[in-house]
Amino acid sequence: MQTTILEPLFNFENLVKPVHHSNGLTGQDIISVSQFDRARLAYIFSRAHEMREMVGRVGSTDLLRGFILACLFYEPSTRTSASFIAAMERLGGSVIPITQGVQFSSVSKGETLADTIRTLEQYADVIVLRHPETGSVQIAADYANVPVINAGDGIGEHPTQALLDLFTIQEELGTIDGLKIAMVGDLRYGRTVHSLTKLLTQYRVSLRFVSPEILRLPLVIMNEVIDAGLDVRETHDVADVIGDADVLYVTRVQKERFSDLAQYEEVKNLYEITSELLTKAKQKMVVMHPLPRVGEIHYNVDSDPRAAYFRQVKNGMYIRMALLAAVLGKA
Ligand code: NCD
Repeated sequence: MQTTILEPLFNFENLVKPVHHSNGLTGQDIISVSQFDRARLAYIFSRAHEMREMVGRVGSTDLLRGFILACLFYEPSTRTSASFIAAMERLGGSVIPITQGVQFSSVSKGETLADTIRTLEQYADVIVLRHPETGSVQIAADYANVPVINAGDGIGEHPTQALLDLFTIQEELGTIDGLKIAMVGDLRYGRTVHSLTKLLTQYRVSLRFVSPEILRLPLVIMNEVIDAGLDVRETHDVADVIGDADVLYVTRVQKERFSDLAQYEEVKNLYEITSELLTKAKQKMVVMHPLPRVGEIHYNVDSDPRAAYFRQVKNGMYIRMALLAAVLGKA
């Protein structure tokens, strides 16, 4: 038998700078953006930069070789699941993907979330979980002895999306403080809006919330914004914000969260960002979207340099690489 000596693809030690002594994330669950203060955000962002540099130079490394991630999704996903899988594999780890197929797992036989989690932790070093019930990821984390990362809990939070959203704003515009950020669409059910808004209360930003009456931002989150002393306004009309927004964060109306589909039909097509509308926007601004889009950003916007949503997608992989490395103690 021929023996091959496996050389690491990339020597990560050369990239890691000594500023990363203590990030406090090792072994931690990631449940909410409230776990991230500005120092921790700066740490994750600087690691994400390193990940981008590493991927650009050599594509992958062996930092997480021997580690296994279980990716458990009880709701549909393309970007969040794929980027966690790509993140783990680019760091040399492996994945148990129960993503497009909980219907093929024992969940379909009636197994409880607790038992599924207690099973997966026997195999995996970290679990990424998306579930339709708000608060369910915290409950799963309470059962698990390995770190659990929230990939969206119903209409609750989506912390890793908010980290990549904030990172994208910083990358695109060079700052976060001082910006006017408008969020458009389903502010009531959109968990990405909830997490990003909470995270932004740590910055000196102006917030503009654009939605129909029935999809306004939940009061409890609005109160956090007000308590933080931010300049905030609500409106039904994108025309009120398009001229001076630095960030236009557009979201899908979350059909699956409506109990009354007639209500969904009333509000589903209220907003459409088009290249014509963007002629009224600043030259230096960005249009973002957590995706998937279902008509709220016209395809004629895609070629506009201000359309940042696919760059935002890529940033998601770097941020998740940084988080996995931190949680698994490879800081
Ligand atoms: C979002 C989600 O699942 O919350 N997508 C994502 O994770 N990138 C937004 C949505 O589903 O509309």
